[in-house]
Amino acid sequence: QEMTSIFVLSDSNLPPEYLEEELQVCGTDLPISIFSLEGGEQIKTLEQAELLYHKLDSSGAERKTLMICLGGGTITDLGGFVASTYKRGLELVLLPTTLLAMVDAAIGGKNGVNLPTPEGLIKNQIGTFHLPKYVGLNPIWLESLDAREIRSGWAEIAKHGIISNSSTLIEGIILLPEEFDVDYITPLITIAAEVKHYIVKRDPQEKGSRAKLNLGHT
Ligand code: GLY
Repeated sequence: QEMTSIFVLSDSNLPPEYLEEELQVCGTDLPISIFSLEGGEQIKTLEQAELLYHKLDSSGAERKTLMICLGGGTITDLGGFVASTYKRGLELVLLPTTLLAMVDAAIGGKNGVNLPTPEGLIKNQIGTFHLPKYVGLNPIWLESLDAREIRSGWAEIAKHGIISNSSTLIEGIILLPEEFDVDYITPLITIAAEVKHYIVKRDPQEKGSRAKLNLGHT
């Protein structure tokens, strides 16, 4: 589909060159608006979604505006939700920057925000299925992550190894080097992302087998 403009939602904590790199890759003459938020579970609210609707509106976004989300799972979840509801759906590109988002959150079209209730926060209670047009994985970006964030990504890779019975993934986790090594991690990301894609393609709306992906989540 022909686009008329681009709206980028990015995480303000990212090194600025990520966004610059991304805009260079876009190599487009289309008008680009950029809005940055500090990622984290606290942004997954309807209030933040409303703020984004206003940003889209004031930037002149139309049905043919492409939304690009650059960041971790909270940015892609919030941005995906906004993209799927603004003007009944904008086309979406996700550029995940955390390991967890690369192998899980950004793949498969789930998005959403949390619902605060008197009993506590209900995670992802409000959301849609809205498949991105493109998901770009750039493992070099993982170099800026802290060890805890990398570990939570490994947990998802282990999960994909278990549910797909992939010896490559399981061995990959067992033999994991202590230091972050992009050459070691890249093929594992590819396989883990393919496992997720394979499962989601067969059951996009979680009517059955996709529920396997909730192992360790629920
Ligand atoms: N993270 C679980 C799913 O996408 O279905």
